Order: sequence, then C-alpha cells, then structure tokens
Amino acid sequence: MAASGQNVHGEADLVCRYRPSSVLDAGCGTGRVAVELARRGITVAGVDADAEMVGAARAKAPELAWWHADLAGFSTDHRFDLVVLAGNVIPYVAAGSRSAAVAACARALVPGGRLVAGFSLRPGWPTAQEYEGWCADAGLMAEHRFATWDGDPFAGGDYLVAVHVLGAAHVGHIER
Ligand SMILES: C[S@@+](CC[C@H](N)C(=O)[O-])C[C@H]1O[C@@H](n2cnc3c(N)ncnc32)[C@H](O)[C@@H]1O
Repeated sequence: MAASGQNVHGEADLVCRYRPSSVLDAGCGTGRVAVELARRGITVAGVDADAEMVGAARAKAPELAWWHADLAGFSTDHRFDLVVLAGNVIPYVAAGSRSAAVAACARALVPGGRLVAGFSLRPGWPTAQEYEGWCADAGLMAEHRFATWDGDPFAGGDYLVAVHVLGAAHVGHIER
C-alpha cells in the first residue's frame, strides 16, 4: 500500500489530531496502529482476544504493554486519553458482546477522553445507529463522524469513523 502511494497510517494520523498522551489500541491485532503511535512518542498499550495476535505484537515491540483479553470483560487500572478501535474490531466482536466491549473501552478512558472507532457498514454488521446507542449507554457523546481515516465528512456511506467523548458536553477541537 505504501509503495502505491496509499497512506498506511491513516488511523494513527487521525488519532494524533486529538493530541493524546496515552492510547489503548483495543482489538490491536498484531499491533499495527499501536506500534506506529509509540513510534510517534505516545504511551500505548494493546489488547486483543487472539493470543497469537498478541504474541505477534509482543514479538514486534516487546517494550510495549500487550494484554490478552476479551474486550467484553476487559478492565484495567490504567486510564487512557484515547481508545482506538481500528480495522473493523466492533463487527468482529461477537454480536451479543458489542455493547459490553464499548462500555469496557469507555471505562478505560480518562474523563473527557475519546473513543475512536472505524468500521465498515455492511448488511449484517452493526449499523451506525446501533454503535451510537452502545456509546450513549456507556456515557459517550458523539463528537465527530468521518467517512475515512483521512477525516472526510460522513454522508451515509459504507464506512464510518466515529469519535466519541466520555462525559463531554460540547463538540471539541480537532487539529488540522
Ligand atoms: C480486523 S482485526 C484489526 C486489527 C488491528 N486493530 C488493525 O487495525 O490492524 C480485528 C481484531 O479484533 C480482535 N477482536 C475481535 N473480537 C474481540 C474481542 N471480543 N476482544 C478483543 N479483541 C477482539 C481480533 O482478534 C482481531 O485482532
């Protein structure tokens, strides 16, 4: 992708616009996003339900914190400025556990922290409205909706990048 001129770090770029000091990469897979954020000087941790993925992430960056856990039951004493759900994590979480997974992400945030999630809107997958409902139940307020990780405005297309704020009562500022 990089060789063909595509931005392979769109997720990290968007996350960095919110200037977090600490980020939890939830559903981190092999650590693609977390490793890039760490390279940019952000304190990161990753969590994933797949032991092999976590093992690959740990092998890639042993100095970072990697946790093997199902998001639906996940809890940590750490609090992060931002939690990112990149690469269709929410659709891959079991249908009955998605609301619990979003709630766990919210619990991992500092007050005013952000949850940033990007996923395809496909038949049979969670809808934008369902996701918004799980966020509202977790005390998260909608801040931005994008169609891409580059920050293009969302106009009802087939991909959503949703940004929510924990307990915030206003729409915040985004770095351009
Ligand atoms: C398509 S991959 C995306 C990986 C990574 N975020 C990325 O963008 O490269 C989806 C990831 O979600 C993880 N996942 C699915 N359900 C999960 C759950 N309940 N708790 C934690 N991770 C989960 C999978 O193990 C997988 O690594």
